Amino acid sequence: MAILSIRVLPEPILRQKSKRVRVIDGSIQRLISNMIETMHSTGGVGLAAPQLGTPLRVIVIGMPEQEDVVLINPEVVRRSGERLVDEGCLSVPGYIGEIKRAEIVRVKGRDQNWKEVRIKANELLAQVLEHEIDHLNGVLYIDYLESMDKLRKIEPEEVQL
Ligand code: CO
Repeated sequence: MAILSIRVLPEPILRQKSKRVRVIDGSIQRLISNMIETMHSTGGVGLAAPQLGTPLRVIVIGMPEQEDVVLINPEVVRRSGERLVDEGCLSVPGYIGEIKRAEIVRVKGRDQNWKEVRIKANELLAQVLEHEIDHLNGVLYIDYLESMDKLRKIEPEEVQL
């Protein structure tokens, strides 16, 4: 396992649509291990493969006091409700902004054993799922800001996704 450097704006890979994973092989397993280790090293609660320079549809989530979640080819199948949240991103360091996210999201994908998984989430987990899946489509949370004036300088203890 290795801690890799996180790509930050304006690196073009952050704006690319990532490709679906077809099969789990050694290189995907290594990618997942590196993503998990890198995520924990940053104190972030989620990471998407393109943030490490690999344009594949893989995300990892590490919520406090819960088991890490690996999702391959994740898709949001349903969103409901709306709420305002503060959001930041390891690829847009130093800032945080208020945007709208769904209250409840349902996501499907596969885990690291290629088993189909479905997750129904609310609160922070729902936000992280939407945020990380957006990364796979080249979308960043700042795209949802009404204006860049809504960005604020971050306090060091605030959560980064
Ligand atoms: Co992010």
